[in-house]
Parts: sequence; structure tokens; C-alpha cells
Amino acid sequence: MKALILSGGKGTRLRPLTYTTAKQLVPVANKPILGYVLGHIRDAGIKDVGVIISPETGNEVRSYIGSGKQWGIKVTYILQSEPAGLAHAVKTARDFLGDDDFIMYLGDNLLHHGVKDAIKEFNRQSPDALIFLKEVDNPQQFGVAKLDRKGNVVKLIEKPAKPPSNFALVGVYIFTERIHDAIAGIKPSFRGELEITDAIQKLISMGCKVKSEILSGWWLDTGKKDDLLQANTIVLDEYIKRQIKGSVDSRSQVNGRVTVEKGASVINSIVRGPVIIGKGSMIKDSFIGPFTSIGDNVTLLGSSVEHSVILNNAFLSGVERLEDSIVGKNTRVIKNSIRHKALRLMLGDDSTVEV
Ligand code: G1P
Repeated sequence: MKALILSGGKGTRLRPLTYTTAKQLVPVANKPILGYVLGHIRDAGIKDVGVIISPETGNEVRSYIGSGKQWGIKVTYILQSEPAGLAHAVKTARDFLGDDDFIMYLGDNLLHHGVKDAIKEFNRQSPDALIFLKEVDNPQQFGVAKLDRKGNVVKLIEKPAKPPSNFALVGVYIFTERIHDAIAGIKPSFRGELEITDAIQKLISMGCKVKSEILSGWWLDTGKKDDLLQANTIVLDEYIKRQIKGSVDSRSQVNGRVTVEKGASVINSIVRGPVIIGKGSMIKDSFIGPFTSIGDNVTLLGSSVEHSVILNNAFLSGVERLEDSIVGKNTRVIKNSIRHKALRLMLGDDSTVEV
């Protein structure tokens, strides 16, 4: 079995972060989302991996994955010249895929239990396609499955205005080569894309065996803004261990599961886990509350931060209370002294500030 990882697209829903970073490379608990995806592919024992890239962010994705050696996989890069849909991506990868079975994994999706068991299930049932479903509160934002009383998939609809159920299609799919015939028979959707959802619907109407599994464990689609903080919370909760590789002075308190990376220093501060503090960061006279990821080379002076993601090289000074926030790379947030109450802002396009 091969793997096809989708790492293209424009990431419009994660702007402004995605002006400078591919959405699949936005970090969750200081590790790019794509890093988790590649780890799951490796754990499932797949060696032959195609990675779909876009002209805009392809180079960045390439420089992160390289040859794939770090994960023990062999990577083939496949350029999708325009974001024309998931089924279009499969079409673009046709030469790489040949007639092999493959698992398609969207590079901005994160699955609690990885994909090892999913592949086992596919091999056990040997259907033409195996899809994964999860109940969500906002099915309008996903592909949605209509199930019969026995739980069989009877219909699949992309982003339905009136969803027939709350079962969303998770961004992991396992296909046989039959999917290529189905893709050949579909037309672009209302959003102008060749939808994989429509291709799977086509498989059903071609009489192919399409099986579905309800996913156990969490699933996060980080390509959407609000989910990034949630992903950070869940991943920190799940994976962060207490590891102090940097320095913590005697005036500081570091409680619970906190990772302080090499070269990071905590001075006269309180840190309550789960928290990760990246390499070379300096935390001084500050408070960091639970579910916070601080990237590399961040400076925090006299500030309080909780349930937030602070990306590399950010500088925060005198910020009394920052919560539920995402602060981009190289950003400066500085609280003026009491005498200067005016806000002085230099914000990029698509920024959001609540004061
Ligand atoms: C895509 C699929 C959708 C699926 C979702 C999962 O949506 O089209 O069916 O539910 O991924 O993340 P998109 O991210 O393109 O809106």
C-alpha cells in the first residue's frame, strides 16, 4: 500500500498565519501538523509516500520533509498546479499511484490513534473504499454521510446546507484503484472543485463496496481557525511530558507537565502545565498557564499567557492577561505604560485584535 499526503492548498481559512506558512506546517505543541501525519504513516509501516504540494508553499513543505529519511519513508513530490480539489489531487498523482491501493491523508488532519488500525480494517474487509466518520456539531463544514439503519453509507454530500446527519467525513480515506474510474466520472462541485466526496458517492452508484467506520478517539481538522487552539489543547494534554532541558532559576515555579527545551530560560516566573517552551526562549517575570505552546526564541517579559499559541520569535512585554490567542511568528505585543493609553498597532492583513 502507498500513501498520498495532501499538502497543497492556499490555507485561506487560517489567514494571516498562512501568508507565511503552509497550513500543514503550522505547529501544534511546537511540532508541524505534517510531522504528526508523517509519524502516523511511518507507524503504519508504509514506505512509499507521495506528497501533493502547491506552487505557493511547495518549497517550504519540501524543506521540512526532505527525502523522508527522518521517518524512514521514500517521498515523491507531486505538484498540483491549482487547488482544484481533493479528487483532482488524486488525478494529479495517478502516475505515482499506479494501480496500487493507497491511503490518502489530508496534511491538516490529525487523528488520535493514527492509521495503523484503519489499514488493518481495510485489509480485513477488502472493500473498494474505506472511509471514516465522526460525529460533529457543525456538519455543514464537512463532507457528510447519510447512513441507513444498519449503518451502511447510502449517500455522501459535500458541505450540505441541510445535513442529513452529524457524521462528517474524516480526512483519511483508503482506496483501491477503482477510485480512478469514479473520479473520471465526476464534475466540479459548487465551489469549483473536484470533490473526493463526490467520487466516493460515484463509487457507491457504480456498485462498488464502500465501507465506513466510526472513528474512535479524537480527530482534528486544523485547517480551520478555531480548531487550532483546540488541537493545541488536546495535543498538549496528550503528549507533553515533564522535561526540563533548559534552565529554571530558584525564584521560579514550574508545576506539572512542562517541557522546557534546550537553551530556554525561566526566570522569576510561574509555569503551570501542560506547557511547552521552545528552544532559546526567555520567560521573565511572567506567568504561563495551562495549555500554552511557546515556540522557539520567544521573549516573554512581565506578561501572563494562558491557553494560547505563541509562535517563533514573538516578543511580548507587559501584557497583563492574554488568553485564547494565537500570536504569529516575529510578532511584537507590547503594553504601553499607563500614561500612554493609545493603542499603537502594526497588524498584517486578516489579523484579529480584541481589546
Ligand atoms: C475536506 C473534504 C471534506 C472533509 C474534510 C475533512 O474539506 O472535502 O469532505 O470532511 O476535508 O477535513 P475541505 O478541507 O476541503 O473543506
